[in-house]
Amino acid sequence: MSTSTNTRRITAPEIRSRKGGTPIVCLTAYTAPMARFIDPHADLILVGDSLGMVVYGFETTIPVTPAMMAAHGAAVVRGSARACVVVDLPFGSYQESPEAAFRVAASIMAETGCTAVKLEGGVEMAPTVRFLTRRGIPVMGHIGLTPQAVHVFGGFRSQGGDQEEARRIRADAEAIAEAGAFAIVLEAVREPLGREITAAVPVPIIGIGASPQCDGQILVTEDILGLFGSFTPKFVRRYAELGDAVSEAVARYADDVKARRFPGPENCYGIEKKKHG
Ligand code: KIV
Repeated sequence: MSTSTNTRRITAPEIRSRKGGTPIVCLTAYTAPMARFIDPHADLILVGDSLGMVVYGFETTIPVTPAMMAAHGAAVVRGSARACVVVDLPFGSYQESPEAAFRVAASIMAETGCTAVKLEGGVEMAPTVRFLTRRGIPVMGHIGLTPQAVHVFGGFRSQGGDQEEARRIRADAEAIAEAGAFAIVLEAVREPLGREITAAVPVPIIGIGASPQCDGQILVTEDILGLFGSFTPKFVRRYAELGDAVSEAVARYADDVKARRFPGPENCYGIEKKKHG
């Protein structure tokens, strides 16, 4: 359920039709209040499984469950009215077979009211992308650095550094687009490769550490706001330092409590306001 009944949500085909046009603005959100702040400015809100690291404090996205994605996805749909909301399928819920992917995607869509799901993987996931899209589930792909495969990569490292890796990522992009994805996230690749894939592939490429020439950009909102300090990739630009503001506000509150300056009379029931004059 959305916050407004008058606003129409941006659809997956509308995102698809923006190939080569005005850059598509994408950000992550995990909660209804954050979705409300982002919704007027973003075309697409991703309920990313990065919430495992940003909200739950895990070291990777691997422990995230479908139940977590469904709860946060529903909150973001309730907090937004305009943006296309995409929910990540978490690790282990979809890789086994197209049928397993369909079951988890259908249940997340039904529980959240989201528009589409995102899954990680290239050539090997193309049959799954085709299976889902042919059965009514819009899919966003995610290639390049795919965080759910962090233990295969041996860390969160940029991809496409040698010719063989670059060839593999190009083939991944082509396979996922051909299978019917309406857009593809391309993460942490060398800029020339990001540019080349954007020019070659017929669906929007949404860059995160890829290229300014991508059809859109996405970042984790807590990264741009300075609310997540554990790990800041090179591709993040900070637009605010809200973490510092939170620390300062909390320290002032603690001082006020200890000095009995809080609560003041204005915060108490049954204390008359002092009359002046
Ligand atoms: O999980 C996530 O937030 C993502 C984006 C960073 C693309 O996949």
